[in-house]
Amino acid sequence: GAPVDADISHLQPGQMLTVSWRGKPVWVVRRTPDMVQKLTGNVTELRDPGSEQSIQPNYCQNDSRAINAEFFVVVGICTHLGCAPLYRPAIGSPDVSEDWQGGFFCPCHGSKFDLAGRVYQGVPAPTNLEVPPYRFLSESIVRVG
Ligand code: FES
Repeated sequence: GAPVDADISHLQPGQMLTVSWRGKPVWVVRRTPDMVQKLTGNVTELRDPGSEQSIQPNYCQNDSRAINAEFFVVVGICTHLGCAPLYRPAIGSPDVSEDWQGGFFCPCHGSKFDLAGRVYQGVPAPTNLEVPPYRFLSESIVRVG
């Protein structure tokens, strides 16, 4: 499959956009400073905080699972049975849980992921969401693939 370019020049902090790469949805989330800061806390609730078991380029095996912590690029497919997780960035989303800290929620069987796509313990998804290979062509263009 050919690479695909995402134009992030109009992406506001907290927003997400989707591009299609090899028939898969790839999300780009522009994380706020608060979102980035949260990625280093609460890691004991995560199944694989160091992303040892998940698929990502070596250059994204870090706390933010990203080249630049402000921009999170991830394949939007649940690692359980392939449903589309929902982006739920707000704290305490009513359809997830009152103590929800923001992240991605899969409505099919209730898997929960943080804002770096890292899976929480006690849910069906076995691994963190997949991060595809990508690079920045400029400040406003991300090339996926
Ligand atoms: Fe996402 Fe089962 S497909 S929890």
